[in-house]
Amino acid sequence: MKDIENNDDLYLLVDEFYKKLLADTSIAYIFTEVVQIKLEEHLPILVTFWSQSLFNTGGYFKNLTNIHLDINEKEYLSPELFKIWLNHFNHSVDENFKGSNAEKIKTQALSIATVMQIKIHKQRNQN
Ligand code: HEM
Repeated sequence: MKDIENNDDLYLLVDEFYKKLLADTSIAYIFTEVVQIKLEEHLPILVTFWSQSLFNTGGYFKNLTNIHLDINEKEYLSPELFKIWLNHFNHSVDENFKGSNAEKIKTQALSIATVMQIKIHKQRNQN
């Protein structure tokens, strides 16, 4: 198995990842009902995001935490949902890639998810 080396690899990863998310009814409704994502627009944004994060390519300028706080206003993004999200993410990585970038992207996902959950918790305590 090879490591994540370029944007084609990232595209394959996010494609596999979203197949898992959308096939899992315990989380899919966030992407199909709460926010109605258009996959063909969404996946390239994810590639840009992860490319910036792994390869320092730049190009992603939005505030990712605020985007998720907005989703959380509509529907609570619970610790259970984060657990499901991270499980599918880690499995998608491990099923397709092996190496230092594969480890790095899983660590980054976990640390971003942790920050998001802290902010979500703060937001809930303010309301
Ligand atoms: C419970 C966990 C999560 C759920 C249910 C979730 C759901 C979503 C949804 C519905 C969108 C589309 C928002 C929109 O277009 O308005 C989105 C966007 C996105 N999410 Fe998440 N997310 C979760 C966690 C994460 C984590 C931990 C990361 C990163 C490590 C992440 C990365 C992204 C990125 C890069 C976008 C694209 C934002 C953009 O359009 O600029 N998500 N997420």
